[in-house]
Amino acid sequence: MKLPESQVAVLQAASANEAQTIDQLAAETDLKPETITGAAFELESAGLVEVAESADETVTLTDEAREYLADGLPEVRLYEAALDAGADDEPAEMGRVIGQSGLEGPQVDIALSNYARKGYGAIEGGEITADPDADPASDAEADALAALDAGESTDALDEAVLEQLERRGLVEVAESTVRSVTLTDEGVTALMEGVEAAETVGQLTPELLTSGEWRDVEFAEYNVEADAERIDGGKTHILRQTANRVKDVLVGMGFEEMEGPHADAEFWINDALFMPQDHPARTHWDQFALENPRKIDELPDDLVERVKGAHREGVGEDGEGYHSPWTEEVAAGIDLRGHTTSLSMRYLSGREVGELEPPQRFFSVEKVYRNDTLDPTHLLEFFQIEGWVMAEDLSVRDLMGTFEEFYAQFGITDIEFKPHYNPYTEPSFELFGTHPTTGEMVEIGNSGMFREEVLDPLGVDCDVMAWGLALERLLMLMYGFEDIRDVHGTLADLDLLRETEVLH
Ligand code: PHE
Repeated sequence: MKLPESQVAVLQAASANEAQTIDQLAAETDLKPETITGAAFELESAGLVEVAESADETVTLTDEAREYLADGLPEVRLYEAALDAGADDEPAEMGRVIGQSGLEGPQVDIALSNYARKGYGAIEGGEITADPDADPASDAEADALAALDAGESTDALDEAVLEQLERRGLVEVAESTVRSVTLTDEGVTALMEGVEAAETVGQLTPELLTSGEWRDVEFAEYNVEADAERIDGGKTHILRQTANRVKDVLVGMGFEEMEGPHADAEFWINDALFMPQDHPARTHWDQFALENPRKIDELPDDLVERVKGAHREGVGEDGEGYHSPWTEEVAAGIDLRGHTTSLSMRYLSGREVGELEPPQRFFSVEKVYRNDTLDPTHLLEFFQIEGWVMAEDLSVRDLMGTFEEFYAQFGITDIEFKPHYNPYTEPSFELFGTHPTTGEMVEIGNSGMFREEVLDPLGVDCDVMAWGLALERLLMLMYGFEDIRDVHGTLADLDLLRETEVLH
């Protein structure tokens, strides 16, 4: 029997009694594992060998783990320093113990977050205690790292400890398929009858063509089913993909896109929205102020006067206003916008695209900045889907109907509304959706009908309904992840970003 060289090599190296892995065969034949895999599949379809598959888990230690193998786990170092400071007797001062431990930078946080979890003691009010019964010499995580380093099999390790090490970024676990090859009876017979290597050509070259040799050679067959190396190519981030889709949907619903500055005058961010200058919400809004430039160059004088009037005396016969102090000085200060409603004000004022006649629809999908506390649903910056509709005689039904139509395009059909308060809309509604995996209600946006005190100074004399929706929350409902940091920033979950399918 004549077979391509690599197949002959595999056939001769394989055994009928003992399965051999692709790697073993590669080592024995001095061929590349992918060549062996290809040859094995060919031989299998000819019935000469059997290829069995099994899943294998390989665990590798990260650089951080190697550091700890040398220096000790941060929490263990903290415990030892705490013992030295007598914290097993009475609470010791945190700062001193950390100084003693020699822990630096991120290691301090790592030590603190694992210390209590692993029962080394407690940390409270700047003081640390050490549990005299804790035994760092039998730290399960440290032991597991040492065992892995010594090349011991992962089978002997506790699943939970391994998971914890993976969560801490100390090990990387990779799943792979291991294939092993055994000769079949037919393979044995073929070998006994004798197999010879046939010269095969893997690639058609210009030389083969010009010499005419191609006519006589035997071409190797391609196995298009063999495993290929995985390549993660570049791809549009799912946040960007969804932002683009939101834009398409809104354009499809007849909206035009607004553009404008990320750093803007408080006038556009707050004052035009009837947010009193001494209102706690303006500090509570917690925006980031710019130091340079500190002030905007110019604000439209007549509009400033009208907005000031609305704040001081109110609008209309029954209007009261706030009677609170109002200065252009404060209004001219520049902040990073805490919402893109600043753009809606710029557009509604006629400043961006001139006076607008109803009906009009505008939107933006843009970044906003807030000094929030970081947690699974809050970041210092996120994307807001801003929008408004200007028309005669709008009602809350129009607002709700617009949301139902919008969210339905993303497969979300269970939107709920809750009455809310905004200084600039009346009535106002928060929007909620149900998280697909936790089943919890997630706030996804805020909306309302702009009040007279906002519209009158802007010179708008029909109704305007408006909203700000969080793009990241929409994404959560669509893809089911729970932590916004999975898709934003340095902690982003790369596998999630690589593998999430685009929904259409
Ligand atoms: N500015 C609001 C927010 O950031 C959203 C909103 C815009 C609400 C327009 C009502 C009208 O939460």
